[in-house]
Amino acid sequence: MSDVLIVDDDDLIARMFSDWLHAAGFRTARAATGTDALDLVSRSRPDLILLDLNLPDIGGLAVCRILKDHERTHRIPVVVITASDRPEDRTHALDLGVEDFVNKPVNPKELLARVQALIRSSELSDRLLQAYTHMDELGEFADRYAHEIVADLKPAEVAWHVARQLLGAQPGDSRRPGFVWGSASFKGRVRGLGFWYLDGTIVSNPTVSSWHKVDAALSPFRTEEGQYLSNDPVPDGLRSLLGAPPELPLANFAAVRAGNDLVLAADYRRQVTPYEFPLLRSSVRYWAVFQRLWREMRRTEGAFVFLMEALALAAEFQDDGVASHIRRVNAYAKSLAHGVGSDPRFIRRIAVCAQMHDVGKITMPASILQKPGHLSPNEWDVMKRHTVNGARILKGPPELEMAARIARSHHENYDGTGYPDGTVGDEIPLEARIVKVVDIYDALRMRRSYKPSYSHEAAVNVLRLGDDRVTPSHLDPMLLEAFLDRQAHFQEIYEREPVHPVAAG
Ligand SMILES: [Fe+2]
Ligand SMILES: [Fe+2]
Repeated sequence: MSDVLIVDDDDLIARMFSDWLHAAGFRTARAATGTDALDLVSRSRPDLILLDLNLPDIGGLAVCRILKDHERTHRIPVVVITASDRPEDRTHALDLGVEDFVNKPVNPKELLARVQALIRSSELSDRLLQAYTHMDELGEFADRYAHEIVADLKPAEVAWHVARQLLGAQPGDSRRPGFVWGSASFKGRVRGLGFWYLDGTIVSNPTVSSWHKVDAALSPFRTEEGQYLSNDPVPDGLRSLLGAPPELPLANFAAVRAGNDLVLAADYRRQVTPYEFPLLRSSVRYWAVFQRLWREMRRTEGAFVFLMEALALAAEFQDDGVASHIRRVNAYAKSLAHGVGSDPRFIRRIAVCAQMHDVGKITMPASILQKPGHLSPNEWDVMKRHTVNGARILKGPPELEMAARIARSHHENYDGTGYPDGTVGDEIPLEARIVKVVDIYDALRMRRSYKPSYSHEAAVNVLRLGDDRVTPSHLDPMLLEAFLDRQAHFQEIYEREPVHPVAAG
C-alpha cells in the first residue's frame, strides 16, 4: 500500500482527494501549510506528494525546492495541483523538478491514473538505483577481500558484510529490509545468522536448525523453485527459526535458496514483490562463492600443514627428538608472537612454520645425530649445516619463505655470536628470534640422552640468567621479556602435551 501526502489549504478539496485515493487503495496524510508538509515528510517519507501551489505560508514552489534539494526527499514524485494557467508558474515548477501537473477542476480518473503511474515508475527507478548501488557495493566488497587471504576471513564476518549490503550502511533506509538472515549447511545442520540494526549498529543472532524444519516453514510461501515471498506477518514457527527479536514486526519477507545456502530479507517498509529476488540471489551467490573458496583454502591449508608436520617429524625421527617437541614449538611460537603484538597473519604462519626449524637434520648423518657424548670440532661443523640445508630444502614456494628463514636463522644469536651467518640483533628475522627462545625453553624441559629434564622454574632461570650453553645476550631482550611475562602459558603448553618418543632409542 502506498502513501500519498496531500498538501492543500482548502480542506474541502483535500478531503475530496483523500476520499478518491482511499477508495483506490492508497493511504493518505494531509497538510494545510507548507511548514506542516515539510514536517510530515521529515518524519515519514510518503511515496508521492500532491501539492497545491497557493499555500498560506511558504508557498508550494518553495516547498518543492526544499524537497528537491535534499538527498532524502528529492526522489519523491511531486504532482502540482494548479488552477493557474500562467505558463511561467509551470516552467518554474518544471525547473525545480516537479514530475507532473493536474489542473483544477480535477478529474478523479485523471488524478488516480497519474498518481498510480508515477508511483509505479518511481518504485521501478528506486529498485534500479538500488540494484546498481548493490552491484557497486558487492564489487567493492569483492575487491577489498581479493587482497586478503580468504582463509584468514571468518565466515561470520563475511555474512555480516553480505547482510550490511542488504540492510544498508545506515539504519532506517525505507527502501531496505529491517532484518536479514543468512544460512549455510554445516555438518548436516543449518547454521543461520540473523542481522538487524539496534541503536545504530548491526547486531546478529546465531541459530541452528535442520533443512527439514527450514523447508517446512518456508514451503507455504514458495513462488518458484528456491524462491519464497510473503506480504503477511512471518508466522511464529518461522520467526523462531530465524531467531528474530520480538520487537521486530517482520511484516513481510522474501527469500532465495541456492543449493544449501539461503538468504532471507524481512521487514521491508513496503510491499515485497518478485523484484526482490535478483538482489537476494546475487547475495546468495556471493555468499556461496565465498564459502566454497573458504572451504577449498582450508582444505589446501590443512594438507599443507599436514605435509609440514610430516616433514618436520621425518627430520626429528633419527634425532632423539620427540613428536610433541615440534608441536609445542608451534604453540609457544604462536603465543610469543601474540605476546609481542604481531599481526594475525604472521601469528597464523609462525604457528605452522616454527616446527620446521630443524628440518635440515634430515640431511645429517645418524652417526653425528645419535653420537653419545660430545661432538668433535669437525662434527660440529657438519652439524651446524642443518640450518643452511634446512633453508635449502624449503626454498622456493612463497608459503614456505618464513619456514626457510626460521630453518636458516634459529641458531643465530642476538649478540652476533651464532651461526650460520653471525647476523646481529634485529637483522635476524623476528620469526627466527622467536623460535630461538622457545626452542631453548622446550629443549631444557625435555629429557635428552645427554641431560635430565628441567623444571619450569629451572628452565626459566637458564633463559634469564644463562648457563654454560646459553647466555641472555643470545636472545632478543624484547622477546625474553615477553617470554617472562607469558611464562605461565609456556608451562601450560609443556604440561598439556604428553611426551611421546618418535623413535625408540
Ligand atoms: Fe636446530
Ligand atoms: Fe628444536
